[in-house]
Amino acid sequence: MTGEKTERAIFTVQDVRKSFVWGAKGGAKETVALQDINLEVGAGEFVCLLGPSGCGKTTLLQMMAGLAKPSGGRIAFEDRPVQGPDPDRCYVFQRFVLFPWLTALGNVEFGLRFQKHDAAERRTLALAKMRLVGLEKFVDHYPFELSGGMQQRIALARALVIAPRALLMDEPFGSLDAQTRSQMQRELIRLWTAELHSEVTIVFVTHDIGESLLLADRVVLMTARPGTVKAIYDVDLPRPRDPFDPKFVELEKAIFKELEDEIARTRLQDA
Ligand SMILES: Nc1ncnc2c1ncn2[C@@H]1O[C@H](COP(=O)(O)OP(=O)(O)O)[C@@H](O)[C@H]1O
Ligand SMILES: [Mg+2]
Repeated sequence: MTGEKTERAIFTVQDVRKSFVWGAKGGAKETVALQDINLEVGAGEFVCLLGPSGCGKTTLLQMMAGLAKPSGGRIAFEDRPVQGPDPDRCYVFQRFVLFPWLTALGNVEFGLRFQKHDAAERRTLALAKMRLVGLEKFVDHYPFELSGGMQQRIALARALVIAPRALLMDEPFGSLDAQTRSQMQRELIRLWTAELHSEVTIVFVTHDIGESLLLADRVVLMTARPGTVKAIYDVDLPRPRDPFDPKFVELEKAIFKELEDEIARTRLQDA
């Protein structure tokens, strides 16, 4: 376990709090989703946010993306406050939100709609990313003709085509079957190390310990609601990682115990 500081931070999350007020006026109630969140993510780092369901992982990621505002504290990206969405910080949703009326290539090109490229440039850039995710043969297919894994590859290509500095991924493989999920995990690591030269910072939300240990440089374990940082684990193992490596298993056990305590607390909240 190590501290919360990194050498060259790209994201700085400082004393962040988020609460939701709901219900009718007069009887309005407040849910504190997150409190006292302090975290730095280094440039080019792969960080996993791990925690029980409902602990605020999505909420934190959305605030880092600028899709939601903290109720307190501050979030900075490259030393500037995050005030809204920005192509430099690209969000990949839990459910691959592709446009059903656009082809695979059309979906990837769509990522470039607000950038100053002409149609030919858009096509060239989109084709290159389709190739990167191994789908060059499927450019003219519509999303419904493709498997879940292929659809998530397109979502990834659409994010990468705008050359973001950071990718914020919310349980992107959560709805895939176990085999496709493990293939996508390997593929993401291959892409990130070999093609992106580990230059793109990735913040990846998951509730799966194994997934976090296969992917991340550091695993940030969160507590049950109100979510806060419980512990940070360095995963100092070479990639591609072997889940049977004794060091991997040892870390998995250590995190399992801590995560189980938080899941138990979540159950008490729900009871
Ligand atoms: N728009 C909202 N209004 C009220 N409560 C919300 C809203 N969004 C999230 N929450 C609550 O905040 C907590 C954290 O949610 P979320 O970030 O989705 O958790 P996670 O992604 O870790 O499962 C949950 O208790 C959830 O019910
Ligand atoms: Mg979530």
